[in-house]
Amino acid sequence: MSLIDAAREVRENAYAPYSHFKVGAAVRGRSGAIYAGCNVENVAYPEGTCAEAGAIAAMVAAGETEITEVAVIADSPAPVPPCGGCRQKLAEFGRHDVPVTLATTEGKTMETTVGDLLPGRFEVAHMDRT
Ligand code: THU
Repeated sequence: MSLIDAAREVRENAYAPYSHFKVGAAVRGRSGAIYAGCNVENVAYPEGTCAEAGAIAAMVAAGETEITEVAVIADSPAPVPPCGGCRQKLAEFGRHDVPVTLATTEGKTMETTVGDLLPGRFEVAHMDRT
């Protein structure tokens, strides 16, 4: 199964009764395995989690810590960009050149990279004086 197909499939399981905006994400680990996640909202709105966070959590839970490819899909007019927090989460496990495909359910796609999504990212080197 392709990464975008995995994201499309898991999106069906998104729990989004408040925004009604279902998102699916899939990441490929260094092993080649695919990990999928969907957004999971909460009545206490800030407690909701994004699709990307779910996919990353599944990857780490399976024992992997390196992302080689990312796909995100939603039913939006244009390919949906990951939120700021998810950009930082993707940057934790993906090198700058890791390809990211953003897609709509209608078939529009946009190709970018983890590095282009988060220029000037906060990295461990910024804590060197501690
Ligand atoms: N959302 C994601 O899951 N990923 C994104 O890249 C953008 C936004 C979710 C969070 C919330 O459940 C809903 O979309 C509306 O913001």
